[in-house]
Amino acid sequence: MLSIVTLFLFSVSNAEQSDEDIIKGRKALFSKNYSTAKRVQAFVSKGDFDRTKKLMSEMSENYKVLIDLFPEHTKEGYKTEALPLIWEEKDAFNALMKKASDDMIKLASIIEDSENIRGSLKELMWSNCKACHSKYRVPH
Ligand code: HEC
Repeated sequence: MLSIVTLFLFSVSNAEQSDEDIIKGRKALFSKNYSTAKRVQAFVSKGDFDRTKKLMSEMSENYKVLIDLFPEHTKEGYKTEALPLIWEEKDAFNALMKKASDDMIKLASIIEDSENIRGSLKELMWSNCKACHSKYRVPH
């Protein structure tokens, strides 16, 4: 019963997403990608490429969702760590997000035959996190 109510509330809030929903939603999705990235790393080192490729394509899809979670009116509040530079350079920011998404697909296509698996993960996955965070997220 409770889950039906939750589901209902969720779809209502989705219909007219508030700033809070959007900011919390993008944070949750980034956190999810982080835990998926760690699973990717773990599966790859075990040679479990089928599961890895599925996770990579999930991450790629999540980036496509994330692109739309930075509307003008969500620059501040709800503990966002997004920097104002994002909205000053929206095209460059979106291009980085798209690159991160495309690179996960590329990674899935080369990982099995890669001679330097760690290097490929770094180049096509981890370096994209860093490239974006160093410019567009509050430093940690
Ligand atoms: C194109 C830009 C971009 C890329 C690529 C990117 N991030 Fe982020 N990330 C951000 C921004 C901006 C925020 C801050 C969002 C907010 O607080 O509203 C963020 C926040 C986060 C957070 C904190 C979420 C929270 O709960 O506050 C984590 C964790 C994270 N990113 C992990 C990653 C990892 C891991 C990768 C790569 C696998 C990655 N990100 C790739 C831009 C990016």
